Amino acid sequence: MSQTGIEPCVIVIFGASGDLTGRKLIPALYDLDRQGRLPEKLCVVGVSRTEMSDDQFRGKMLEKVKEFSTHFDPSTWKAFAERITYYTGDGAKAECFPGLAAKIAELGKSRGMQKQGDMPNVLFYLSVAPALYEPIIGNIGGANMVMEGHRWCSLNAEAMPWQRIIIEKPFGVDLATTVSLNRALGRVFEEESIFRIDHYLGKELVQNMMVMRFANTIFEPLWNANYVDHIQVTAAETVGVGSRAANFYDEAGAIRDMIQSHLLQVLCMVTMEPPRKFHADAIMREKIKLLASIRIMDDAEISKSAVLGRYGASAKNPAYTGETGVKAERNTETFGAVKLHIDNWRWAGVPFFIRSGKMMSSKLSEIVVQFKKPSHNMFSSISPEAALRPANRLIINIAPREGISLRIEGKVPGAGLAIDSAKLDLDYLQRFGGEQIEAYGPLILDAIRGDRTLYKHKDEVEQGWRIFDPIISHAGLRKSIAEYGQGSWGPAAADGLMSAAEDAGAGAGSIKRAWHNPVSTEVR
Ligand code: BG6
Repeated sequence: MSQTGIEPCVIVIFGASGDLTGRKLIPALYDLDRQGRLPEKLCVVGVSRTEMSDDQFRGKMLEKVKEFSTHFDPSTWKAFAERITYYTGDGAKAECFPGLAAKIAELGKSRGMQKQGDMPNVLFYLSVAPALYEPIIGNIGGANMVMEGHRWCSLNAEAMPWQRIIIEKPFGVDLATTVSLNRALGRVFEEESIFRIDHYLGKELVQNMMVMRFANTIFEPLWNANYVDHIQVTAAETVGVGSRAANFYDEAGAIRDMIQSHLLQVLCMVTMEPPRKFHADAIMREKIKLLASIRIMDDAEISKSAVLGRYGASAKNPAYTGETGVKAERNTETFGAVKLHIDNWRWAGVPFFIRSGKMMSSKLSEIVVQFKKPSHNMFSSISPEAALRPANRLIINIAPREGISLRIEGKVPGAGLAIDSAKLDLDYLQRFGGEQIEAYGPLILDAIRGDRTLYKHKDEVEQGWRIFDPIISHAGLRKSIAEYGQGSWGPAAADGLMSAAEDAGAGAGSIKRAWHNPVSTEVR
């Protein structure tokens, strides 16, 4: 163990010349190093097919770090650059691996990280096209680079190196491909060594959800169908698909890209039962249980509960269908909105509205918990207006602002009775300080620690597809895909999901359901 309490290891990044490595992974590692949070002996091997020397790779990464790290400090670059090395090879081909294994062993030796069997701890990172996942995993296994199973049977496990793997999303494109990928992983790695990353789980306010709910007394008693009218989860972006349409987005779409993955995880954090303790297994178990309670809708229900859209043209930008690599006949959505139901005691009857889109009005990720109105309004006899006052609403701002605000009703000072809304507002950075840090850094550190609390279990991803496969493949929905204006909040049909009369059932009172669409990123 180092001073940071984290074991030394070699991080092997497949896809080192790719976008994610330069934009997120290396800048996140650099930021961690600058803050003194990496073990002294950690190093990185970038692997990709492009011929490059260590120095050439470092030069490329320097440019990326300058652009994408939270804060670039030239005095810290040199030491970080020494951690980085490069290996030219095609991970999808078995012949890449003897040389790669030799390089890892050599780094272990020269940098004093060797463990039993002359190998250091290794964290593999798959930052490659999903089609390459299974071949690379198979080759890692074929080269006998994984001994984790033996480690567990060993009397001296600490002396043996560990091998873990982080896999990027998209994790499969449907249930069948996900099961196949999970099986491929399971043939080589123990489930405990597999880290299915979802960077939304690394976001501070998503992590804080558990603390907010379970370290306070005041929320849990209200956190159920008796008091909550509905919950919204939004992830809106102002950017379009850029150059990603051809190789990825046009075959994925907003539901696969954002809702089935990130927003479903956010929903789990908001709605799961309290885990027995703050430990990965306990938390994963609750998430799996919750996911199994989300209603799998039939075709008729889906047509009333989901809306797809794609952005039209603006004066500055083409429509989605005009972006390079888009096949209009695929009817891929850049916006999705879905109403889900959780069929359990706590949430029966509460609708959950989840939406995400590109080219929208604001960059905004947030959770809105809309409470019901008081069961009896004693003020309405004095002021008819009082009956129309909005109910309490809790907003958890995930990004770009990090904060929590609660709308409450208060008496306006002065004679007579006038009631108005006010906001109790916690700005996270202002209160807790610190540097806002890219979610990838802490997640990678967790994987090095062997902590899967913020990662996904295989049963979670499989259940996610059971819920969303029927929605993604619903032909009617796709045919009725609506165009929405760039800079808007998505197609008008998404508003219809909210206002549908069937939800104004008993207990919903006179709450007018509407998406929370702030006019700017400033939260109202
Ligand atoms: C990625 C998606 O997982 O998340 C992108 O593939 C999306 O399409 C991104 O832009 C959004 O992440 P964030 O952290 O900016 O909300």
